[in-house]
Amino acid sequence: MNIFVIGSGGREHALVWKISQSSKLTKLYCAPGNPGIEALATCIPLQPTDLKALLDFALTAQIDLTVVGPEQPLAEGIVDLFIEHDLPIFGPSRMAAELEWSKKFAKEFMLRHGIPTASFRAFNRTQHHEARLYVQNAPLPIVLKADGLAGGKGVVICADREEALGVLETMMAGGQISETVVIEEFMEGEEASVFAISDGKEYVVLPPAQDHKRVFDGDKGKNTGGMGAYAPAPVVTLDILRRIEKTIIQPTLAGMASEGRPYRGCLYIGLMISENGPKVVEFNCRFGDPETQVVLPLVEYDIVDLMMAASEGRLSKLDSLQEKRMSKGSAVCVVLTSRGYPDQYPTGIEILGLHSVEGDTDVRTFHAGTKRRGNSVVTAGGRVLCITAIRPNENLAETIDLAYQAVRKISFEGMHYRNDIGKKALSHHEVENSL
Ligand code: AMP
Ligand code: GLY
Repeated sequence: MNIFVIGSGGREHALVWKISQSSKLTKLYCAPGNPGIEALATCIPLQPTDLKALLDFALTAQIDLTVVGPEQPLAEGIVDLFIEHDLPIFGPSRMAAELEWSKKFAKEFMLRHGIPTASFRAFNRTQHHEARLYVQNAPLPIVLKADGLAGGKGVVICADREEALGVLETMMAGGQISETVVIEEFMEGEEASVFAISDGKEYVVLPPAQDHKRVFDGDKGKNTGGMGAYAPAPVVTLDILRRIEKTIIQPTLAGMASEGRPYRGCLYIGLMISENGPKVVEFNCRFGDPETQVVLPLVEYDIVDLMMAASEGRLSKLDSLQEKRMSKGSAVCVVLTSRGYPDQYPTGIEILGLHSVEGDTDVRTFHAGTKRRGNSVVTAGGRVLCITAIRPNENLAETIDLAYQAVRKISFEGMHYRNDIGKKALSHHEVENSL
């Protein structure tokens, strides 16, 4: 098969890496890719939002399966466009992707189908006055979310009422993202990410992961796209996973199908594991980044079989995959970022030490924001590299150690990373061991 991956980050590098192991593969392409991806796929200089050019390429290169990494092309309807041209593609239609591109749609959908999530109200610009009243009277902390795609930057949690009113003003002034604001109850608990691969009806769950969204250790500082991840996440016990399937995944897939927008592709469920059970923080219509970097290494079957079956609506024929879904391994990914991220950051800084981790068989260096300059690799984004340790057992403490040993071999000016990736999992293991 000729397979085409769209995107250029750490997630796409992990997808390309996993797909490159498939026995079905003839030729692998990626647009636009990055210097890490180059070693595994032919990189095509096309932007993920240039749908017409991507379509032309896929037709010319006789692509048998396209896999979409980022949300933007999905929200713009790349799946609908490829299907019109009989090109198999893994991902949701524009209508199904609305679960991510409109928080208002997602929240109202969950309400209609009794899916557990934070209570909320949505307000548009004409309801400015009501929104202010709501913020003035709601219990604190309160969560404000701009509708629409915001790259992880559209959510503000306010412990202070004056601050909340200020954020509301800014969001309602629109311009930046959208003029609709969703205001939510704050949920307590520990977060986790679960990916369900669906063909619109059936699904396969991948090993649960945990992201680290804040920029500094101890979950301090601003929200980012993700500073690191590990899998499996012990906060999602088998019992909790069953509840997630029963109360969230099954009603979501059934609800989407009944509303005439069956969900095919990877459904990313951002969860809060609260005292009252799992609740949805957000849906995304794609694989998560950096969770993919730790989830895919734990998948023990051919991922191309799964993606093809999902895109062709025949997951029920792949029953054996359900049994294999829990692997015995563990993976930890530490993201190296540029100084200043998630705000302004410099680029073009030379990265040193990449060769010194190449020999580490249990470590993968997934590139996120890098670029080639002459013979060297330089920084080209906020998230630069995703150093991922992968081990065949569940001793997470050792996997964490291995990841940080590799991290210390790499350097660039202004390099930042969190020192506590995976720490929450260790406290779960301690509790389990003391029982
Ligand atoms: P989102 O983009 O909706 O995933 O929100 C980004 C981050 O904000 C989440 O990963 C959570 O850490 C936090 N968050 C969002 N909504 C809530 C909520 N209702 N209660 C607590 N934390 C939240
Ligand atoms: N890791 C968060 C996301 O992919 O949205």
